[in-house]
Amino acid sequence: VPKQQSVQLSKTGTVGVLTVNRPPVNAVDAGVRSGLMAGLREAALDTELAALVIVGAGRTFIAGADLSELGAGISNPSYGDTLAAIETFPKPVIVVLHGECLGAGLEIAMACHYRVAITGAKMGLPEIGLGIVPGAGATQRLPRLIGPVAALDMLLSGAPIDAARALDLKLIDAIAEGDPITAGVNYAHNLVASGGPVRPTRLKGVATNDFDDAAIAVLVRAHSKTTKGRTTQRAMIETVKGSVTLPFDEGLALEKTLSDASLLTRESLALRHMFFAERATSAIPSVGKDLKGLPIKAIAIVGAGTMGSGIAMAFGDAGYRVTLVDAQAEGLERGRKIIRSTYEANTRRGRMTAEAAKAATARITPTLDPAAVADADLVVEAVFEDMELKKKVLGQLDRIVGPRAIIATNTSSLAVTELGAATRRPDKVIGLHFFSPAQIMKLLEIVRGDETSNETLATALEIGKRIRKIPVVSADSFGFIGNRMMLDGAFREAEQMMLEGAGVDQIDRAVEAFGFAMGPSRVNDMAGVDIGTLVRRQLMRRASRVDPYCIVSDTLTPMGRVGQKAGKGFYSYSADPRVGELDPEVTGIIERLAAERGITRSVFSADEIVERFVLQLINVGADILDEGVAYRAADIDVVWVHGYGFPRHVGGPMFYADTLGLTHVAERMRYWYDRKGSYWKPSALLERLAAERSSFTNFDRRRT
Ligand code: NAI
Repeated sequence: VPKQQSVQLSKTGTVGVLTVNRPPVNAVDAGVRSGLMAGLREAALDTELAALVIVGAGRTFIAGADLSELGAGISNPSYGDTLAAIETFPKPVIVVLHGECLGAGLEIAMACHYRVAITGAKMGLPEIGLGIVPGAGATQRLPRLIGPVAALDMLLSGAPIDAARALDLKLIDAIAEGDPITAGVNYAHNLVASGGPVRPTRLKGVATNDFDDAAIAVLVRAHSKTTKGRTTQRAMIETVKGSVTLPFDEGLALEKTLSDASLLTRESLALRHMFFAERATSAIPSVGKDLKGLPIKAIAIVGAGTMGSGIAMAFGDAGYRVTLVDAQAEGLERGRKIIRSTYEANTRRGRMTAEAAKAATARITPTLDPAAVADADLVVEAVFEDMELKKKVLGQLDRIVGPRAIIATNTSSLAVTELGAATRRPDKVIGLHFFSPAQIMKLLEIVRGDETSNETLATALEIGKRIRKIPVVSADSFGFIGNRMMLDGAFREAEQMMLEGAGVDQIDRAVEAFGFAMGPSRVNDMAGVDIGTLVRRQLMRRASRVDPYCIVSDTLTPMGRVGQKAGKGFYSYSADPRVGELDPEVTGIIERLAAERGITRSVFSADEIVERFVLQLINVGADILDEGVAYRAADIDVVWVHGYGFPRHVGGPMFYADTLGLTHVAERMRYWYDRKGSYWKPSALLERLAAERSSFTNFDRRRT
């Protein structure tokens, strides 16, 4: 749609209708703004018009601003001028909200005089998720409409509200059903008939009674998900305070200043990087846009353990029919229990209606009959992590399922190519590496075996998106993307630092203060120290590693110190089964392992811990890119943010490296290499990019 046509003016009787038409989601750009301005000018000249309705064409009102404009700077007409033109229009302006009404979409709506929402509409200000203070009046108009406390609540949450809640809050004036234009025109006719006036939001006062520092602190705590470790909320609080204390235009000016500044923060750059990174992962050149995946309807999962049950729910939740097979009656029963208790918890916590839970459960058919997978289009194998067993299972599946079916493995360490060779269809064998709990975790590593076809890969990418995961493609090599960086990079280095004198809890605290969800020892204790040992044992068959390599974990495992499930691992769990205490036995083990290797122990600072932990991630990440295991640096960031708890507002390890500057990163790698050798050898790609004064962002740009 050419720019001048992204807004159209039409007329129904005495009501003008401005339709925003910029598929697919009517994102606001300069064309939409100038279209609105032109439409308002034209409508103002029509003396017959009694009211004006603004609607969105298609399935949604306006899902937000066109984010690609942010980097380049907003061109004229500005949001401020456009919204002022709406607000000062001489006849009543009614906006109809349907589908998504987010960000700039809601800001436009708030500049209108009356708001009608169609049932099902979602209204929200997701800017906090991008580290941005809204800049088109939201922080000044929202408090005038719903009060400053509720306004700040919406700004800090970033999550949309539904029409019923919006009506309660008086954000909207009415809820309607059916076609947005009809609903808007009807509302306008009634309004005109009853003599409804123009009603600029800017002229409303702000009710201030319950807005104080205590109320603000409560909100910040309640929204720790979007405020912890971040800065955007501070500017938001300041602007909302401004809505209470300042005249409207001064409030707008304050908002503009803080909004412009927010666009330049590291936090916002990192969050926007992640926003685009998450949407770019499935663009793989060998797949291309034209290659369509195979149609997938029936799913079978083999192995009803922790992973198999979670994977079954991931598919069931997305509406797929799933057959869940286990070889053992107890195994199957355990799977049933996991599924039942997960859905019960979901209903109890209000995440799901009882009917939805029932329907999802009914889509999953547990069975002991291996032949039940026969009509599946996709089988996901999730049996024990054992090469011989998995080969046997895949060989059996190959004989049972139809010739077009894809066979996937959820292995976290075994060679997909070797597993594929156990079938007569290696081109249709692929790794689908889910993360635990599989029904929740967004990351899906798709592992491409040497023989996996482009069509199979395309199918896996499509399926990944259908089940609302973020699929990232990895080559079939040691630990794929995530586990390779975890084991060779960060977790190995964490244990190295333990040997050199850093405390187990000191490392966890430092890494958590950097923003990680959990430090390495807490992760190990939660996931099971033995699981890591098993994975490494499998991986070592693919390639060896120089000692010391995760030797603390590998010493704890045979002692039965396997983590929370055993009451002891890196920590001891006596009082609270989830809160660990340091255990002198572990300290003794670490000291002995260090002494055996002649490692001298010293005192660590939190800074050194974080630097070494993160530099190692970056360096192994660079190797992975250089080897072609990952296609983009941004893919690595997605893996680490969504699979391993790397702080999203820092942007993932590779983006973080860019913000540090690759010259600095390479220099620090060489500094440590001079002192420690071995694992500190700087990656060739890192050296190259640093020498060119380039960045991982540039590396990615050259690829796409
Ligand atoms: P689990 O031990 O909980 O479940 C395995 C299930 O497979 C058991 O119920 C067992 O009875 C069943 N099984 C064994 N042989 C079978 C056969 N021949 N036919 C049908 N069912 C059979 O194991 P978990 O943790 O679910 O792991 C499964 C796979 O997922 C492994 O390959 C593991 O490496 C991988 N994985 C595990 C993750 C985790 O966090 N636990 C994360 C990502 C991958």
